[in-house]
Amino acid sequence: MTTLTSASQSQLSRRRFIEAAGAAAILSRSAFARAGRAPASDRITMGVIGWGMMGPANTKVFLEQPDCQVVAACDLEKEPLADAVNTINSHYGNQDCRAYHDYRELLARDDIDTVMIAVPDHWHELMACEAASRKKDIYGEKPLARTVREQQGIVRVAEANKIIWQTGSWQRSLPEFRKAAEIVRNGLIGDVIRVEVGLPGGHHDFGGTEPELLAKLATLPNKITDPTLVVPGTPAWNLAVSAPPPDFDYDRWIGPSRMEPYIEARINKNWRWNYNTGGGQLMDWIGHHGDIAHWGLGFDLTGPSEIEGVGEFPAPDALWNTATKYNIECLYKKEVTGYSNDVRMTIAGGSGAINMGAKWIGTDGWVWVDRSGFDASNQEWVKWEAVPDSLRKIKLYVSTEHRRNFLDCVKTRKPTITPVEVAHHSTLPGHLGLISMLTGRKIHWDVQHEVILDDAAASELLTRPYRAPYVMV
Ligand SMILES: NC(=O)c1ccc[n+]([C@@H]2O[C@H](COP(=O)([O-])OP(=O)(O)OC[C@H]3O[C@@H](n4cnc5c(N)ncnc54)[C@H](O)[C@@H]3O)[C@@H](O)[C@H]2O)c1
Repeated sequence: MTTLTSASQSQLSRRRFIEAAGAAAILSRSAFARAGRAPASDRITMGVIGWGMMGPANTKVFLEQPDCQVVAACDLEKEPLADAVNTINSHYGNQDCRAYHDYRELLARDDIDTVMIAVPDHWHELMACEAASRKKDIYGEKPLARTVREQQGIVRVAEANKIIWQTGSWQRSLPEFRKAAEIVRNGLIGDVIRVEVGLPGGHHDFGGTEPELLAKLATLPNKITDPTLVVPGTPAWNLAVSAPPPDFDYDRWIGPSRMEPYIEARINKNWRWNYNTGGGQLMDWIGHHGDIAHWGLGFDLTGPSEIEGVGEFPAPDALWNTATKYNIECLYKKEVTGYSNDVRMTIAGGSGAINMGAKWIGTDGWVWVDRSGFDASNQEWVKWEAVPDSLRKIKLYVSTEHRRNFLDCVKTRKPTITPVEVAHHSTLPGHLGLISMLTGRKIHWDVQHEVILDDAAASELLTRPYRAPYVMV
């Protein structure tokens, strides 16, 4: 077990050390050691915000770490919040975890060092900026935010406050993805010419709310069997809309986004399929396979100069309105990347032609990786557990557990495997591809200054209005 260095101790609050000193007086160091946990003064305290699909998955790993103590949980909904507090308290066998409805109260606590944020994308910017400005180190979910402008704000505030940031792009912490990226980075496939990033298309009923909606719609004479066909001003829409449950703070849930009527099939997890709150399959996945594609290319801090996308969209005001199919062509210019040639990247969703995952194609071969497998032009590479040391001239960052890597970096104050500016750059091709699809034009992106060139209408889509009283940082 690593103990805190004096540099990292200085990051922790004075109040926490006073509390820790009190705790240590009650339980001796050897008693803590017997319990398999670090003394309180060596533990990183954490608050978790958002207990839907990803919150519990992340938190369960943090709970297993002997040098971490989850002390607070926040969720807008009563049931997930109660589940969070019970899970945490039963793990520790105490009643110490405090429950919060308002994340600002959790963030105001000086005795909390870190936060795990797993809320819908439309809330990322406000929460992350407030947490960073309060000097909390952040494990924040992908995509970094819902717009480019929001992402730029998060990067700025995180860097100004010198916090440690880990993005939930956990594929970087798996050996197969690192092996693929190292094969590319060490030139085994020659000069990279093309990259294919395969993502899902359509919509997936993560929230399990579609059957109930379709059952309601089945009562109509002209049966509608798809939420993408439900639009305002129709009997189907009127059936889909309801009053929010009495104990659900819908106004806060919508937060900075445009107020819309409550529709259950747009809330729990399925907020992804509505551009008011999420970014569809493209933005849900770009922080995974797009992130890995950039890692292999060494493009963590750069981006494409030209982006051209086409997509199939439901009506813009449809209940689920995010693209069901899309194809985005990105051009990474050699003058910008420092490569000896331009690189073309295709990001495709719901395409029969491009497999899920990341595939790099070079002058001497290719390599493909996905959660479901690994393949390459050279079958020797497939057999390797890792790139042999003799060929591993460029060694990529090694993290064997993504949340563990965050805690280690909180202690050492070294960058994590997916710091905030990497999360920003990994998702830019998705954001810009979406803007290209929505405007129907090729986007020319100034990589250095991060502006869209000569296109005022497209530039407007880099941001979005915030609903009062919310104000973007
Ligand atoms: N890294 C991954 O593999 C992965 C997988 C799934 C989701 N995610 C990301 O995690 C985030 C959450 O996604 P999810 O699928 O868990 O969503 P979800 O809808 O299942 O859960 C979100 C939770 O946040 C709560 N919430 C919403 N607004 C809040 C607020 N203002 N204050 C406090 N709580 C609030 C909701 O009540 C809900 O319980 C998203 O950014 C998503 O992209 C990442």
